[in-house]
Parts: sequence; structure tokens; C-alpha cells
Amino acid sequence: MPDLNTSLHVDALRRFQRARSMPYRLYRAIRGELSAKAIYGLQWGDPETVEPLAFIKKRWVLPYVRPDHNAVEIGPGGGRWTRYLLGFGKLYVVDYYKELLEELRKNFNQPEIVFVHNTGTDFPGIPEGEIDFVFSFGTFVHLDAPLIEAYLHNMRAILKEGGTAVIHYSDKTKVMAQENKSFSENTPDRMRAMVAHAGFQVVQEDLTTMWHSSLVRFTPESRG
Ligand SMILES: C[S@@+](CC[C@H](N)C(=O)[O-])C[C@H]1O[C@@H](n2cnc3c(N)ncnc32)[C@H](O)[C@@H]1O
Repeated sequence: MPDLNTSLHVDALRRFQRARSMPYRLYRAIRGELSAKAIYGLQWGDPETVEPLAFIKKRWVLPYVRPDHNAVEIGPGGGRWTRYLLGFGKLYVVDYYKELLEELRKNFNQPEIVFVHNTGTDFPGIPEGEIDFVFSFGTFVHLDAPLIEAYLHNMRAILKEGGTAVIHYSDKTKVMAQENKSFSENTPDRMRAMVAHAGFQVVQEDLTTMWHSSLVRFTPESRG
């Protein structure tokens, strides 16, 4: 118990009152706004603070990042997930829209990043059999089955034996996907079938973390 004459409580009250005062709150808000590195895509949720996304980062992204491995991210947008993939030896960021790659380049221009402008489903310039990890979030949810099939086929060529891919896709078994017109007609059953047809084996699935979508992890079926 502190001495009765201590200024402990009065000091704490003053700190609280200062932090609550309008000029101080305005100062902190402006300082935060000016120092924030604005990343396009955080408006859909920040994996630093939004629980399901934080889980995806921890379970589906970070365990695969290794400096002796190479990775591909499909549809990086402004880099919401790219920032967690910077620990790869080489990171190919593949996007159909040049404007998005330019936006990404503003925040991420590390030497290990290779910017790849594709024609929708291909991996131009990415060497076959050289990729350990493919990641895509928020992109396949909008792609129709023929585009997904073409992507999976092309992915089979670039992934190493023993490599792994984590793809986030639309899950129309969920009400929130049914209500979202921009989400493509896909379900875990359809996705599994497309993955298998392209020569992969499904290793793991996450059907519960996201309310409108699901994730699948797969690896190339041995050709031997
Ligand atoms: C909704 S944003 C998601 C961005 C980022 N992954 C995120 O979660 O914040 C979709 C991204 O996919 C890109 N994109 C759309 N169609 C694509 C395609 N067929 N191939 C590659 N990228 C595509 C868009 O340009 C954009 O960067």
C-alpha cells in the first residue's frame, strides 16, 4: 500500500485526463495518420488486428516462409500479405493489372521481389520446377472455374516436387458468399476436384476460419 501522501493516484489521473483531452487525441490521430504506411487492401481487414486474418497469417503463411525457398504470390494487390512473404529468397508477385503492380512497388521494392505482369492465368518468366510455395488470398474468390483450372495447370509446372500451395477461394456453401455477387461459383467439392485434376494432392483445408470463403493447401502428386 503506497504512502497516503503519495502523488501516485493524482499523477495517474492527470495522465488519463491528458490522454483523453481533445487536443492530445487530435495530435495522436494526425501523427498516426501521417506515419501510417498506407497499404491498399487494409480496408478489407488487417491481418495484424483482425482475428481470422491473424490466424491465417500464423497458420497458413508464416510457417512456410524460408530464406532458402522461392515463392509466388498471385494477386498481391497493395501488399496486405506480401509483407509477410518478404523472408523468401525470391518472391514473384504476379498480377493481371499493371496498376496494381505499380501500387505494390510503391511500398515494396526489395531486391528479392520480382514483379510479374501476366495475362490472367500464366507465370511468364518464372522458371519451371523452381517454386516452393504459392500463396493467393482474395483473388481466386473472384475467378471462375475455367480460370482457376488454367491457373492450377500452370502452377503444376512451376511448383517443385514437395512444394506447397495455399489458395483462398470462394465457398458458395456459405451464406455470405451466396450473398456476394462478386464471388465466383465455387465450393470445397469443386475446388478439391479441380486441384486433383491438375495433378495435386489436397493436404489440408480450412473450411471454418472465413465466413465467405475457404482455404486449401495442396502439393504436387508425385509423377513417379
Ligand atoms: C481483391 S484484390 C486482393 C489483393 C491482396 N491479395 C489482398 O488480399 O489484399 C485482388 C488482386 O488480384 C488481382 N487479380 C485479379 N485477377 C487476377 C488474375 N487473373 N491473375 C492475377 N491477379 C489478378 C488484382 O489486380 C488484385 O491485385
